[in-house]
Amino acid sequence: MLIHGLLVVSLALSGTPAATTQAKIDCTKVKCLALTFDDGPGKHTAKLLKTLKKERAKATFFLTGKYVDQHPRLAKRIMTEGHAVGNHTYSHFSLTPRLDGEILDDIQAGKQAIEQATGRTPTMFRPPFGHTDERVLRIADELDLAEVKWTGTTHDWALKDKKKIKAKVLSLAKRDGIILMHDTVPQTVQAMPEVIKELKKQGYHLVTVPQLYGGKLRAGVSYP
Ligand code: NI
Repeated sequence: MLIHGLLVVSLALSGTPAATTQAKIDCTKVKCLALTFDDGPGKHTAKLLKTLKKERAKATFFLTGKYVDQHPRLAKRIMTEGHAVGNHTYSHFSLTPRLDGEILDDIQAGKQAIEQATGRTPTMFRPPFGHTDERVLRIADELDLAEVKWTGTTHDWALKDKKKIKAKVLSLAKRDGIILMHDTVPQTVQAMPEVIKELKKQGYHLVTVPQLYGGKLRAGVSYP
């Protein structure tokens, strides 16, 4: 029994994210902004994680299940480095034209891929292309997921230019904002060191989406 007890304790400790100082940030009192990265993990994710660590910034990653299956260690690393992980479905197809069962299956498959890689169950999801409606939201509720969209989208995949992406993020930044980017776009990852430095200079605390809402995201509710 003692050995069993010790095992449980050590597992609980190893599952604790490294973020300690970040946990104390109160976004009702300070200027917060949530940077979010969709469609990974992929070949540029590690570089982004390095930048975030160096700048002591936290972010939110909406992971696509099929890529989590390809890069499970990256998915795990995102979580252990204190970032938030959300479900971006397994296949990344538009949900709104699909049947209930197809929507449910693809979100469930995304959830399973993330659970398998990280050992955690995501509590947030972001619909691919932002395509959602009351039906998608009801299914998210059934799956205990909050829906998270954004206040500003960079269209970084179309800009494909470090300077333009930087300018776009800075123009979209606002208190309690949620910025949509993609860590699959190399120029986005290249722009982040300068973007983060500038945002910090402007007084922003870069936090995860759950931190932005004081850890009170509710299933079946669409944010922001
Ligand atoms: Ni996407």
